Amino acid sequence: MTRRRPSSARWLQEHREDPYVAAAKRDGYRSRAAYKLLELQTYPHAHRQPDQPASLLIQPGMTVVDLGAAPGGWSQVAAQLVAPGGRVVAIDLLPMAPLPGVDFVEGDFLDEQVLAQLNTLLDQEKNPRSAHVILSDMAPNMSGIPSVDQARGELLAESAFQFAETTLRPGGRLVLKVFQGSSFHSIVAQARQRFERVKLIKPRASRDRSPEQYLLGLGFHH
Ligand SMILES: C[S@@+](CC[C@H](N)C(=O)[O-])C[C@H]1O[C@@H](n2cnc3c(N)ncnc32)[C@H](O)[C@@H]1O
Repeated sequence: MTRRRPSSARWLQEHREDPYVAAAKRDGYRSRAAYKLLELQTYPHAHRQPDQPASLLIQPGMTVVDLGAAPGGWSQVAAQLVAPGGRVVAIDLLPMAPLPGVDFVEGDFLDEQVLAQLNTLLDQEKNPRSAHVILSDMAPNMSGIPSVDQARGELLAESAFQFAETTLRPGGRLVLKVFQGSSFHSIVAQARQRFERVKLIKPRASRDRSPEQYLLGLGFHH
């Protein structure tokens, strides 16, 4: 009989006791990650200045791009929030079961041909800046070698940021999973040049022992 490694036994125990796992089951979300996006959704409203109008992250009628979408928790939330009249375009290396209101591309976001498919779905030729919101929850498959995993994570974040720079409409929003490493400060500095407001957020639904954080950019400009 194979013995379970202590780390996976700990993961199983945490998973069983995790209130967000139970909530996702109850609410019909494909992943506990859905609650991270639901929390980020209210952030611009909760933290607005007294002179700023009420504003939620994702609104009806918007076009949202979800990078690293599988199994689909964020896409489910985004599809609910953009209705009526909006759309969600999602991509992942892994297959994702279809979701109403979500167009999906299966493939590597770093591959130019796959990126071209995504751009076709967004009708980039006719309207190069069609996205109101870019979401990236992309994270590399862990190799177990910290320096390799960190470098892969940073590359995904940098590529998603470049995609946002070419795809977002003026005033657009970005939610980007960022990774600590040599490029971290540079990506935050670039975001400060391109967005009116930039915040680094660790949602409550993010596991305590995970260093995960998200960069939220509001008010994109050139
Ligand atoms: C944390 S999961 C996303 C969870 C998702 N937000 C949800 O709510 O269900 C990260 C995803 O990034 C995807 N990913 C990693 N590298 C990628 C790449 N190069 N291109 C596309 N997807 C990628 C992984 O396959 C994985 O499904």
